[in-house]
Amino acid sequence: MRIVVLVSGRGSNFQAIVDNVAAKNLSVTCTQMITDNPNAYAIHRAHNAGIPVTVIDYHAFPSRKEYEVDLLLALDELQPDLIVLAGYMRIIGKEIVLAYKERIINIHPSLLPSFPGLHAQAQALAHGVKVAGCTVHFVDEEMDAGPIILQRCVRVCDDDTVEVLEERILAEEHIALSHAIQLFCDGKLKICDRRVFIL
Ligand code: GRF
Repeated sequence: MRIVVLVSGRGSNFQAIVDNVAAKNLSVTCTQMITDNPNAYAIHRAHNAGIPVTVIDYHAFPSRKEYEVDLLLALDELQPDLIVLAGYMRIIGKEIVLAYKERIINIHPSLLPSFPGLHAQAQALAHGVKVAGCTVHFVDEEMDAGPIILQRCVRVCDDDTVEVLEERILAEEHIALSHAIQLFCDGKLKICDRRVFIL
């Protein structure tokens, strides 16, 4: 299976995929990293791992629509079996969602449907939840709303800062994302009425 990973910044989730592939805990080929951000630290990670990088600078385009035309062209050239959004901080447009229906997954740092969008960990703290976590889900046309593949949870402690909670959730993200990729690649995910069943 060929995966392409889309990243916008630090790239620790991308690194976890690379490390799991190297450790033979994940049997996929990561053929390319694509980033919308020419300054993303993840570019260094990809270079270190010998994974080719495509930079499609979001701010070089007059509109999101035009950016997405280039993104779709790049994806079509790569012919991925699965597109993985790993800290990709943009909404995927309708055309790409339709072209890769049920073949795009995203990691989000909350237990969806709670706290979609930005600053999910801060939202969780502000609401005083006692359990937080992360979600891997298929991407559809709504933000952070597609069918849920799996979730992992963490405790929220009384003295947690946003940074501490982010770290605790991130450790679970690194496990969850690779697990979901492997399930997809093994053909073990079945979507029925917006629910994902693990076969
Ligand atoms: C992660 O918390 C991810 O869930 C969110 O943005 C963060 C990206 O982290 N969408 P990294 O770039 O993978 O280190």
